[in-house]
Amino acid sequence: MPELALVNGKIVPLDQARVPIEDRGYQFGDAIYDVIDSYAGKLFCLDLHLDRMERSMKALSFPPIPREKIRGYIVELFEKAGIAKAGIYVQISRGVAPRNHGFPRDAQPQIIMTIRSSSGLPLELTEHGVKMITVPDLRWGRCDIKTVQLLPNVLAKQQALNAGAFDAIFIAEDGVVREATSSNLFIAKNGVLFTHPLTQNILPGISRRMVLAMCEESGIEIVESFFDVGRMLDADEVFVTGTITDILGVVEIDGKPIGEGTVGPICRRLNRSLVERAENSPCP
Ligand code: PDD
Repeated sequence: MPELALVNGKIVPLDQARVPIEDRGYQFGDAIYDVIDSYAGKLFCLDLHLDRMERSMKALSFPPIPREKIRGYIVELFEKAGIAKAGIYVQISRGVAPRNHGFPRDAQPQIIMTIRSSSGLPLELTEHGVKMITVPDLRWGRCDIKTVQLLPNVLAKQQALNAGAFDAIFIAEDGVVREATSSNLFIAKNGVLFTHPLTQNILPGISRRMVLAMCEESGIEIVESFFDVGRMLDADEVFVTGTITDILGVVEIDGKPIGEGTVGPICRRLNRSLVERAENSPCP
């Protein structure tokens, strides 16, 4: 199946999709995005992704776009591509206009999407976990809005790759652990999970929300509270959650092993439940 793109409702082969060079997403990073995965032929938590896109657009004062229009585009692209395990990327910019910092008066938001098969992470990584490094959080103050301004994330990820690690974890000036470059982070200590509360400094991840729901259902205690690097390094388990990573164990940070240096039982259990849920049941 060819990789496809959608540009303002028109579906074309991905290599033929084009956007105008004065798109504000391209010139100013004035665009929001979201990434939706499908499992076993079903889009996972589409409504939560639509909610988050609406929230991001509202935060940037984009003119409203009917939710059903965006949903219709996503479903049409997904059905046309016919890929059971797909990754859909959606980007909506403020529009196309002559370059000028102020909002253009008449520009219409531009909606683009791509779809590709997503094989998920190599099994090797899920089984054995990954290494990470810590980096200072140099991002802006509204990381809760899912914008395409990802340069600090890109640079931190590359720094991690250059160091032979899988990813980087953003640390605030006061030492608080925030999240990784494209996933939220959890630690486990004595059977209790901790994760950064929802503030303007982290993305409200949908996989994070799934973990909270699954813990509630299965009686695992979970606390949304701040913790620092010392507590993270002293944890029994560390794992990250995201649409692309699912639930991924972190076994080493800055060269120091976490717990036994292997993927822990809570991480394994939650990851199994997440994938089962995505393949079989609706979003909780
Ligand atoms: N990233 N934190 C950040 C900074 C992210 O960019 C993401 C997702 C997450 C996890 O959110 P979710 O569980 O809703 O995928 C947390 C996407 C996948 C990306 O940039 O590719």
